[in-house]
Amino acid sequence: MLEISGLTSAYGRIEVLHGISLSVPASQLVCLIGGNGAGKTTLLRAISGVQPLKSGTIRFDGQDITRLSAEERVKSGIAQVPEGRQIFGSLTVEDNLNLGGWLHGGGTSAERDAIYAMFPILGEKRNLAAGGLSGGQQQMLAIGRALMSRPRLLLLDEPSMGLAPVLVEQVFGVIESLRTRGITMLLVEQNAAAALAKADYGYVIETGRITHSGPSAQLIGDPKLREAYLGI
Ligand SMILES: Nc1ncnc2c1ncn2[C@@H]1O[C@H](COP(=O)(O)OP(=O)(O)OP(=O)(O)O)[C@@H](O)[C@H]1O
Ligand SMILES: [Mg+2]
Repeated sequence: MLEISGLTSAYGRIEVLHGISLSVPASQLVCLIGGNGAGKTTLLRAISGVQPLKSGTIRFDGQDITRLSAEERVKSGIAQVPEGRQIFGSLTVEDNLNLGGWLHGGGTSAERDAIYAMFPILGEKRNLAAGGLSGGQQQMLAIGRALMSRPRLLLLDEPSMGLAPVLVEQVFGVIESLRTRGITMLLVEQNAAAALAKADYGYVIETGRITHSGPSAQLIGDPKLREAYLGI
């Protein structure tokens, strides 16, 4: 569904992604792991169209989207749950969801109800300012907002970051349920062992290059990765 080939990207003159090739098959959960500053966020932002490429191509559903704007990519079915959530704290929970549905008039009440069914706490707090939500609730809202754009591919940037263990489990539970609904996902996680345990396939990125890739079970069994990333 998503095919990236030879992608390079830079901040000014400093290239930080050096020829990334990666694919995400339809209905699969693919995870991307790597240390701080490896380029994970830059890669997700390049896929969603907010980070310019120097070279390389991005294909989505067989279509070359390399030159499409970020807005056109959302229209084509790609949504990102950004690092650090980036919800609008002064707006209500419901208005944050409506913003996620802006491409089709703010979304329908049925769509919002589906999000509230998935995250009941958001329904209870729908009329409250989103800035008052806990970290975990804000993460649920960031996921809900992305779902409002009716994505077929969801890019998740460290959704469990900074959450208490019980909420980390809840976020992984949500990812699991999205997967059973057939949503294709590319998941960036520092919580590598937990992410790989759920994923079909994984990639390891080190200073802007993919150094390892394979079915999750194979990566989990790799002694080098176990030591460097999985803490096993
Ligand atoms: N806005 C920016 N301007 C200049 N350099 C940047 C900018 N954002 C990131 N970088 C650099 O690009 C490289 C990749 O950063 P990126 O944020 O993509 O890494 P990451 O894997 O997401 O890291 P983290 O785990 O900390 O989120 C790093 O060397 C970082 O310092
Ligand atoms: Mg990052």
